[in-house]
Amino acid sequence: MSIGSQSSAELANHALTELVKQSIPQHVAIIMDGNGRWAQAQGKPRVMGHKAGVKAVRRAVSSAREMGVGSLTLFAFSSENWRRPDKEVSLLMELFFTVLQRELKLLHKNGVRLNIIGDISRFSARLQKQIASAMEKTADNDGLILNVAANYGGRWDIIQAAQTLVKQVEAGEIDSSQITEERLSQHLSMQNQPEVDLMIRTGGDYRISNFILWQAAYAELVFTDVLWPDFDESTFKDAVDVFATRQRRFGLTGSQIETLQAEE
Ligand code: IPE
Ligand code: IPE
Ligand code: MG
Repeated sequence: MSIGSQSSAELANHALTELVKQSIPQHVAIIMDGNGRWAQAQGKPRVMGHKAGVKAVRRAVSSAREMGVGSLTLFAFSSENWRRPDKEVSLLMELFFTVLQRELKLLHKNGVRLNIIGDISRFSARLQKQIASAMEKTADNDGLILNVAANYGGRWDIIQAAQTLVKQVEAGEIDSSQITEERLSQHLSMQNQPEVDLMIRTGGDYRISNFILWQAAYAELVFTDVLWPDFDESTFKDAVDVFATRQRRFGLTGSQIETLQAEE
């Protein structure tokens, strides 16, 4: 569903008409922020916030399924989060491992396809193995696609796609003039999924923190002060309601969009 390289005449195509008409975002990405502050506000260690955050993940997955969202992408650990104190990083790794183990059965039963995105080569062999087997087990499911971004950075994603293309040029498989948006997109994480329609950030800050950059080029952004452990079905629905009121223009004018929306 790349729209980046089309001319304005081509924009009035079926895909764009569908996009401007949708009231339920097909792809939602969430920056799950505020775990530490949630715990600290209650005089608890930060890790308790991460643990409470797992329950919010469960709620988000079930709300996404209920609302008919096709892809849900959750930012669990950024490429910059390694800068945190060693103790917090190792607790997060341990939590990631146990949650994967514990939740997999239910996710699978509910037809969820789990897809971990990010540079997992930095994780322990044990965790990498766990990730591979979880993805394999759920690979044929056709329900919600749950992308979990772990050791993920938007810049990393673009670089790894660029490196793949450079290797193809070096091997003489393609010419450098064939490096197009379309082709680069095909090597990014989530390449077979719709672009992100709605990006939500909890925790009260207004930034993207190197989350999906390319795939969210035309995402609607919704920021909420709710801290991640407090995120529930109603927070999610509120964000989707805000999304439904937005006019996504993709570079067109408002009246062009109204014309598209009126099309059968
Ligand atoms: C988000 O919550 C979870 C991760 C980054 C792993 P934080 O841990 O960033 O919580 P705050 O922002 O410090 O409150
Ligand atoms: C973004 O939160 C990363 C995740 C939610 C995993 P951070 O808490 O790391 O973001 P900054 O540091 O406030 O930008
Ligand atoms: Mg934070």
